[in-house]
Amino acid sequence: MKVHRWLWIASPLFLGCTADASDSSNYQTVADVQQLMLTVVEPAAEAYWDAVGWIIDEDGEHEIAPANAEEWELVRNAAFVIAESGNLLMMGSRALDQTGWIGMSQAMVEVGRTAIEAAEARDEAAVFDAGAEVYYVCTACHAAYALGTLRPSDTRTN
Ligand code: HEC
Repeated sequence: MKVHRWLWIASPLFLGCTADASDSSNYQTVADVQQLMLTVVEPAAEAYWDAVGWIIDEDGEHEIAPANAEEWELVRNAAFVIAESGNLLMMGSRALDQTGWIGMSQAMVEVGRTAIEAAEARDEAAVFDAGAEVYYVCTACHAAYALGTLRPSDTRTN
């Protein structure tokens, strides 16, 4: 019931709990790195990679591109997930170290930003290029921390 929910939100007890909004220990991670990869990172990356490209079949070459505003929005949304995933990877025990891991995660945020810009510009070539940059960051981190998962689409071998 709406009324009760608002009463609860306004209660002093609840406000007291959130007083220190800057305390990073307020968050609770739910997924481990593997779950994050499978449920958040990979689906977003696949959506982004699938958004533009070319298919060659017996009828010739076909271009794939978002067909309308909603489809472009989905590409943009996927790019936001990629960018913010970089932050998720740096949180708590997900960070396997405070050096290379952080660098790779920050690189995810950066390529994510490039991917967002390309999608917002509705620039197919830029989305294609940004997708390649995203792929490079995925494989670079896997080469260092997940040798069994060199390419994102590989099934695990270790
Ligand atoms: C900061 C490092 C890092 C980045 C960046 C990264 N990954 Fe991963 N990824 C890992 C690690 C570590 C594992 C192994 C997790 C495990 O099994 O515990 C993994 C595993 C995976 C797996 C295999 C999951 C499974 O068990 O089948 C997929 C798929 C995957 N990553 C996709 C991606 C994609 C797509 C990107 C880029 C958009 C990406 N990853 C970027 C670190 C990273």
